Amino acid sequence: MSVKIGNIDLGEFPLLLAPMEDVSDPPFRYVCKQGGADMMYTEFISSEGLIRDAAKSRKKLDIFEYERPIGIQIFGSDIESMREATEIATLAGPDLMDINYGCPVKNVACRGAGASLLQDIDKMVKMTDAVVKATHLPVTVKTRLGWDDNTKNVEEVAERLQDIGIQALTIHGRTRAQLYKGEADWTLIREIKRNPRIKIPIFGNGDVDSVEKAAAWRMEYEVDGIMIGRAAIGYPWIFREVKHFFKTGEHLPGPTLDERIIACRTHLNKSIEWKGDKVGVFEMRRHYSNYFKGLPDFKQYRMMLVKEENIETINQILDEVAEKYEHIAPFSEMA
Ligand SMILES: Cc1cc2nc3c(=O)[nH]c(=O)nc-3n(C[C@H](O)[C@H](O)[C@H](O)COP(=O)(O)O)c2cc1C
Repeated sequence: MSVKIGNIDLGEFPLLLAPMEDVSDPPFRYVCKQGGADMMYTEFISSEGLIRDAAKSRKKLDIFEYERPIGIQIFGSDIESMREATEIATLAGPDLMDINYGCPVKNVACRGAGASLLQDIDKMVKMTDAVVKATHLPVTVKTRLGWDDNTKNVEEVAERLQDIGIQALTIHGRTRAQLYKGEADWTLIREIKRNPRIKIPIFGNGDVDSVEKAAAWRMEYEVDGIMIGRAAIGYPWIFREVKHFFKTGEHLPGPTLDERIIACRTHLNKSIEWKGDKVGVFEMRRHYSNYFKGLPDFKQYRMMLVKEENIETINQILDEVAEKYEHIAPFSEMA
């Protein structure tokens, strides 16, 4: 059965690309879309930044036709600002709006935004209601299990936010207190799926980094789809590999060296196109080692790539990588 959010048909068991600050920008989303992501989100955008018309926040609203369906994620601590930011973001033409109630980092969660709303569900409900009313688009929410081990209140969150009109919920199987430590626990996510009151799609998130885990957790936790974040960084093929495994029970071979180089170049070119030469080259630096993880002695090339400013020279270094590792067998980080 197809998963639907409003009029958006995501097909059976969609795989979503997670919103990730400084990662899930249009260049990265381009390669993930090519890798098979069914739906994607922008990195989170500050509601206050949008209202102040801050250039950095505005730029994050850029979305492209090939990315659809795409959601814009916003966060904030003030209900009126969130309402206004929703109106601004809606004008950018996404397919849906998403609210971040999961961010654990101090300067978000300790300023009354992100996961801190898990400590004040009444306010969370009011904020969500304001967002739902401020847009004609479907609204989704991303959150965590709760604030800490003693307050895992995501089931109440799911019921109350569904009641006021959100159309899907993604749950990261950790509490705020856990940050990114320990293992994600999806048990509570399954309880919500089994709650007869809950009708909206529930997506599981946290620690899916292999096709086996995706398949096992799909069965074990009964979710409607999976959101993948870190495992897609430098490895956008994860989406197609998981889908192939679902369909056939067999592993696709990992990407060839050529495919890795092409994805890396595409990411670089898109980065330059969208950010300009200087910033495009600079911000691509954090991605090289991810694309070539597993290559023996890659460090020397990485060092060259992260120092180089000239685009032609970067491309020449990538040519050298192609030549040097030509005979290496396809390697998969996800085996
Ligand atoms: C670098 C980084 C940035 C992130 N930024 C966001 C964000 O902007 N919004 C959000 O909802 N979650 C954000 N997250 C959390 C991820 O969306 C996701 O919930 C988390 O990484 C767990 O999923 P994973 O194990 O598949 O990576 C971020 C995570 C990372 C690693």
